[in-house]
Amino acid sequence: MEKRQELYAGKAKSVYTTDNDDYVILSFRDDTSAFDGEKIEQLSRKGEVNNKFNAFIMEYLSNAGIPTHFEKLLNANESLVKNMQMIPVECVVRNVASGSLCRRLGVDDGLELNPPVFEFFLKNDALHDPMINEFHIETFGWAKSEDVSTMKQLTFNVNELLSKLFADAGMILVDYKLEFGLFKGDVVLGDEFSPDGCRLWDAETRKKLDKDRFRQGLGGVIEAYEEVARRIGVPL
Ligand code: CDP
Repeated sequence: MEKRQELYAGKAKSVYTTDNDDYVILSFRDDTSAFDGEKIEQLSRKGEVNNKFNAFIMEYLSNAGIPTHFEKLLNANESLVKNMQMIPVECVVRNVASGSLCRRLGVDDGLELNPPVFEFFLKNDALHDPMINEFHIETFGWAKSEDVSTMKQLTFNVNELLSKLFADAGMILVDYKLEFGLFKGDVVLGDEFSPDGCRLWDAETRKKLDKDRFRQGLGGVIEAYEEVARRIGVPL
């Protein structure tokens, strides 16, 4: 597969076309952003750690029957993925209250959520990713209702699989965000799964092992990502 020109540059990843229209290359950069891109820093090794972390998780999910865009790891910072039409909706599942849920509803950080909470957000930095529901998605045509059901089901299936994977390695999957797209008409998991898009706490100490270390200026961001990777067996 030959890499051609840059198609799009996101906040942490760039997308390149290839000589095959069905595939694009995701290039994971060291740029780390928070607060809709207001805080941006370069964190050495982040691109490589997230690329390898994401490859491991996508392959794990794929082996468990979740359709994903992931094809293969190409090198330290790049992966080959299916060229999907992205659905501009973020799917969030929360097992423990933290972040925006606490700010919005005034509940205590760390409260266990049983059953887990599901939320949709519109992917739009200028509007600060507002919370939306299924009616907005249907009315504004962001996705078909059957595809919305599939996204929701797949997001919960991922919760079962990854909560266990992290629990077995001594961590709590507090919450996470997934994005989906359409590939040849089918709903497929896209974007990335890494500590940039989820909250992971050490099960014993509740130490934060995710991007909250960056958001809150706690330091040791990449060291924490590497610790998570090491615990679940990602080859770095
Ligand atoms: O992170 P923040 O408090 O602003 O938002 P949240 O709604 O509490 O985020 C829930 C989960 O989704 C966290 O694990 C975030 O890291 C993740 N998320 C993300 O990856 N990208 C976004 N644009 C929003 C949330």
